[in-house]
Formats: sequence, structure tokens, C-alpha cells
Amino acid sequence: MPTSIAGDLSHPRDADDSALASVFAAYTVTATLWLLFATAIGVLLAYKFGAPDFAPGEWLTFGRLRPIHTNATFYGWASLALVGLAYYVAARSSGTRLYSVKLAWIGLILFNVAALAGTVALELGYNDGNLEYREWPWPIRLIFLGALLVTAWNLIGTVARRATEDIYLSNWYTIGGVLWTCIIAVVAILPWYQHGLGQVSVSGFYMHNAVGMWFTPLALGIFYYALPKLLNRPIYSYALGVFAFWTNLDFYPIIGAHHFLFSPLPWWLQTTAIVFSVAMLVPVLGGSANFLLTMRGRFRDMTHSYPLMFVFVGVIGYLVGSTQGTVEAFRSLQEVWHLTNFTVGHSHLTMYGFVTFAIWGGVYALLPVATGKAADQRGLALHFWMAVVGSFIYVISLSIGGTIQGLDWIAGRPFIQSVVDIQSYWVWRGIGGVLMFGSHVVFAWNVWRMCFGPSATAVQLAPSRSDGAPT
Ligand code: HEM
Ligand code: HEM
Repeated sequence: MPTSIAGDLSHPRDADDSALASVFAAYTVTATLWLLFATAIGVLLAYKFGAPDFAPGEWLTFGRLRPIHTNATFYGWASLALVGLAYYVAARSSGTRLYSVKLAWIGLILFNVAALAGTVALELGYNDGNLEYREWPWPIRLIFLGALLVTAWNLIGTVARRATEDIYLSNWYTIGGVLWTCIIAVVAILPWYQHGLGQVSVSGFYMHNAVGMWFTPLALGIFYYALPKLLNRPIYSYALGVFAFWTNLDFYPIIGAHHFLFSPLPWWLQTTAIVFSVAMLVPVLGGSANFLLTMRGRFRDMTHSYPLMFVFVGVIGYLVGSTQGTVEAFRSLQEVWHLTNFTVGHSHLTMYGFVTFAIWGGVYALLPVATGKAADQRGLALHFWMAVVGSFIYVISLSIGGTIQGLDWIAGRPFIQSVVDIQSYWVWRGIGGVLMFGSHVVFAWNVWRMCFGPSATAVQLAPSRSDGAPT
């Protein structure tokens, strides 16, 4: 049973390494451009809550920009960055080269073409508006599906030619994620169920599987690889990781209907979704415990490793955000929070506090090793603190504001009263958002240094101090 993947830092660089590094860097660079674009739109959207008459032209209306923001963060930023990392982790942890460098480049082009065409279509007003997170017209979603298939094939091919006997934990999560997402993407495109209550049901299924079976397993795969690397010690329990994998796979696909509690969907379906939302505590607590126990006795290492700090925040984001999701799924609390800004807080706690921090931790830990170029420590520090403080302000302000909003509605106050009551919290969200966006500009600079800057020394490349722990 493999317990460690640490210790391949001294791997000699050859043509295969360079090809892998180029693929990893290209995915990260294009993802970063999408992050900058999508979150600039996010800041503009946040500003519009305080100044609704600002930029009123049809091109900049809220209705067009919001799906541009959500789809570009999902499919431009997070998906591209996670796939780049998954390729690197799959090849390195399997002790082999990529199955096909060419397929990796084809996938990169397809992902970017889909994201670009989708953005243009939404901006022109072509929007499958009632299908959240799949608003792109369906031919564009087909291009995305093509990119997914190419990626699944390439990742499976890479792991299949591994030099090790076992499949490392990260690859369980990654391959599980890509395979399952191909199924979700097909279900989301098939026209037969896309009307009436069937459409509501499929929407819930799609939305929660997109976050739970695409972003979540890929981000967890990064933790399973980066943490042992950064700490130079094995993951606490391989068996617990496998257990969390199977329970995640069993429970996640059935919780989608919790997005539509109190809707005309069958009551039993809603109740099933709530029950499995509670069951989700099993993989969430199992996975989080595994990461935190891997860090046991070594939390002080964070004082000299920003990549480790990013990973740590990501783990806490996963634990807190998912547990919050379980609580949010109860009918008694949905009554207060459904359709309020509390949910937007939850979305950012998870997609930002968990997924985005996991990506940053992975990129800072692994990209310098791949390219042989490092970012400046001050750049990492600035990025980290701006992102942490900004997202903290963002999530806390919307959690409080959203609760006030919900209580106003329950009390039967006029809708406009709830708008007035939440206004100062929207201003705080905007302040948090500006800090977050600033941190992305710093991240872009750091990525530039890690891809095109001067070559680093061995000391700069080591993710953290080695203390002789088993490798
Ligand atoms: C595993 C435990 C989780 C549970 C039980 C859960 C539960 C929920 C619930 C009940 C809602 C609906 C809120 C409403 O409509 O009022 C929701 C929304 C959402 N969740 Fe989670 N969540 C979990 C984890 C996550 C994770 C890990 C992510 C991201 C990676 C995530 C991303 C989202 C997003 C983006 C929405 C907003 C969907 C929308 O636009 O309506 N959740 N979650
Ligand atoms: C500078 C950083 C960001 C800002 C200022 C920002 C701002 C916003 C705003 C104003 C909305 C609309 C909320 C509403 O309709 O009431 C939104 C929605 C959303 N954003 Fe962001 N965002 C940022 C970063 C991100 C990132 C990096 C991700 C994902 C990786 C993300 C995912 C989402 C999602 C899933 C929603 C839909 C929320 C829901 O319906 O519950 N955002 N964002």
C-alpha cells in the first residue's frame, strides 16, 4: 500500500518533464487570465448592488454579467487550473510521463474555445437562462464535453501506464471526478427531461454535481498530493482516503434536490436530499480529519511555508463550507436562508475558500518544481493575506446580511425594507471583493514569475524544509 509520494523532487529533468511542465504552465496561465476577467466582472456586479443605475447599457446589465461571472469562474478559472494540476499530479505520482501531450493541448484549446464562445454568447444575450451554471447555448456545452472526454482519456491513460503497483489516492479522486462529470454533462445536455418538474430535478442534479463531483474531487486530489509533499511525510491514512472517496461517490449525487426544498418536487425526493446532505458529513469529516491529522504536530511549519498556508485555508474552507451546507439543507433553516444572500456567502466560502485556495496551494507548491522558477516570497505573502482578509469580509458580511434578509421576509416586511436592511452588508461585500481582486492581480504576477521569471535556486524550489520524515 503506497503511503507516501514525497521525495521525487530530485527527479532528473528530461524532454518528458519539460513537456509536462509546459502543459501545467499553459493551463495555469490561461486559468489565471480567466480568474482576472471573471472576478473583475464580480467586482462590477458587487458595485451594482450599491449603485444599480451604474453602467445601465444592455451590455453591462446584471442579467448578462452574472452568468458570465459564474461560468467564467467555474469553467475558465477553476476547471482549467484543476485539470493542469491533475495532469501534473497524475504523471508524477504514477512515476510516468503523460499519456499524450498532444491530447492535453487539444483539451486546453477546447476548454478555452468553449469558455470564450460561452462568454461571447452570454454577452450577446444568447442564454439558456433557466439552467443555472449551464447557461451557455448547448452547442458550446458540447465543446466543453469534448474537452472533458479528452481529459478523462488522457488522465486514465497516464495512470494506466504507472510505474507503481497501486493507484495513488489523488488519482482515485481525479479519475472519479472526470468520469462522473462526463455523465453529468451528458445528462445536462439531453433534451428529454428539460421541461417542467423534470427540468427542476435535472437542474438540482447538475448544479450540485458540478460542485460536488467535479470541483470537489479534483481539489481533494490536490490536497492528497500537495500536503505530503509540503510536509515531507505520508498522508495520515490511505484507507480513510479511500473510504471518503466511496462515501463521497455514494452520497453526493443524490443531494441535488436540496436546492429546491418547498418546491413542487415530490416531498420524498426533497427529504431524501436532506438525509443524504447529512450523510455527507461522513466523507467531509473523514477527508478533513485525514488532512488535519497529516499536519499533526507540524502546524508551525506554516510560519515558513505560504503554500502550506494556502492548503490549510483550503482544508478549513472544505470542512466549514460543507458542514455549513449540511446545516443549510434542513427545512427549518432553508425557510430563513433560501434565495437570500446567505447562499451567495456559502457559494464563495466553498468555491473560493475551499476550491480556489486548494488550487493556489497546489500551484505554489508544484509549479516552481515543474518549471524550475519561483515567485518572490513577498508576492506570496501579499496574495495570501489580501485573499484571506477579503474573502473573510465577503463571506461574513453576506452571511449576516442574508440572515437579516430572510428574517425580514418571514416577518412579512415589504421587500424594499429587506433591501435597505442589507445595504451596508453589500458595501462590505464590495470592500472584500476589491481586496480579493487585488490578490488575483498579485497571483497573476506570481504565476508570471513561476513560468517566465529567472531560474530559481534549489532552496527556493523546495516546498518546505525537510526534517527527515519518511518519504
Ligand atoms: C457536502 C456538503 C454540502 C452540502 C450539504 C451543501 C448544501 C447546499 C445547499 C442546501 C444549498 C442550497 C441553498 C439554497 O438554495 O438555499 C447549496 C448551495 C450551493 N452550494 Fe453547497 N453544500 C455542500 C458543499 C458544497 C461544496 C463543497 C461546494 C463547492 C465546491 C458547494 C457549492 C454550492 C454552490 C455554488 C451553491 C449555490 C447554488 C445556487 O446557485 O443556487 N457546496 N449547498
Ligand atoms: C473578486 C472576487 C469575487 C467577487 C467580487 C464576486 C462577486 C460575485 C457577485 C456580486 C455575485 C452575484 C451574487 C448575486 O447574484 O446575488 C457572484 C456570484 C457567484 N460567484 Fe462570485 N465573486 C468573486 C469570485 C468568485 C470566484 C473565484 C468564484 C468561483 C471559483 C465565484 C463563484 C460564484 C458563484 C458560484 C456565484 C453564484 C452564487 C449563488 O447563486 O449562490 N466567485 N459573485
